[in-house]
Amino acid sequence: IGEYGSLTGATATFGQSSHEGLELALEQINKSGGVLGKQIRVITEDDRSDANEAVTAVQKLVNSDDVLAVIGEVASKRSLAGGGVCEQYHCPMLSPSSTNPDVTVEGGKVKTYIFRICFTDTFQGRVDGKFGAGQGWKKIAMMTNVDEDYSKGLAKSFRAEYTKAGTIVDEESYGGDTQDFKAQLSRIKQANPDAVYISGYYNEVGLILPQAREIGLGVPFFGGDGWDSPLTLALPAAQGNFYSDHYSSEERRPEVQEFVKAFQDKYHKTPDAMAVLGYDAMRVMADAVKRAGKADRQAITDALAQTKDFPGASGTITIDTEHNARKPIVFLQVKDHKDTLYKIYPPE
Ligand code: PHE
Repeated sequence: IGEYGSLTGATATFGQSSHEGLELALEQINKSGGVLGKQIRVITEDDRSDANEAVTAVQKLVNSDDVLAVIGEVASKRSLAGGGVCEQYHCPMLSPSSTNPDVTVEGGKVKTYIFRICFTDTFQGRVDGKFGAGQGWKKIAMMTNVDEDYSKGLAKSFRAEYTKAGTIVDEESYGGDTQDFKAQLSRIKQANPDAVYISGYYNEVGLILPQAREIGLGVPFFGGDGWDSPLTLALPAAQGNFYSDHYSSEERRPEVQEFVKAFQDKYHKTPDAMAVLGYDAMRVMADAVKRAGKADRQAITDALAQTKDFPGASGTITIDTEHNARKPIVFLQVKDHKDTLYKIYPPE
């Protein structure tokens, strides 16, 4: 099996956490005999948080290493890039955590070889919009990274839902390389919103929140799963803020508690969402190979498509006709440098 991820670069905690989860699952699977009488070997490629590197990495895995299937990526832009290669060479790909709708369905057409074990941003944006309205925030400002498919897609879906109940008083955009957000934040302060929605990644949030404090913009900030990182939890300016996510380590479900314990025993820290999704992706993949009954790309593709009621640590996983999974969304609040469970939204 091939794995590609951002082990280094701008969003390195995404790739690292996902990889740690995957490794834990791999160890458990191989310890209990592997699949089809063999041990599974995973070949891991670092794409350095770069979409072009993701293409090169997946080409190597699919064409030189001759892997049976690919697991990756976390970030949607890189899953879209790597997914193009898998689709071209008829190699199944399973994304643990990319939520942009286009990853599996583009222009109304379901991609044959691409699957994911998470919900999409059509759902996440809707939940985030409902959450904002439900908090009593009547005026919201938005900040969108126009270089990321994830951020643009989530912003679109959020806007569509939130405007049913409230008013968007300012929309600011930025590029992926932005370091100084003061111009955007000053305009937001002028617009006087009740809260600010950032559909970006943790590395951007890590710059925006302290700068908002500096200019005296004291309203709550909230966002989507892209906020999830140990670095967000550590940030003083993030305390009290909210984001939607795939799971909470505080959930009582036995699958969660068993996973959290195994992860803590191995890595001595609490797993984030990428870790649990990397873990589940590896297990769903191994289960698909088992059900395929042979080491064959097409048979594994068919088995992935038929995944039903898989008891994942991140929730029950059924792959639907659009190659997505329907799962609940949790809202987390950053509190005392921890992600505390605030609210759960059931799947639609
Ligand atoms: N959903 C994000 C994307 O599609 C990636 C992500 C997943 C980030 C899970 C954090 C947690 O780009």
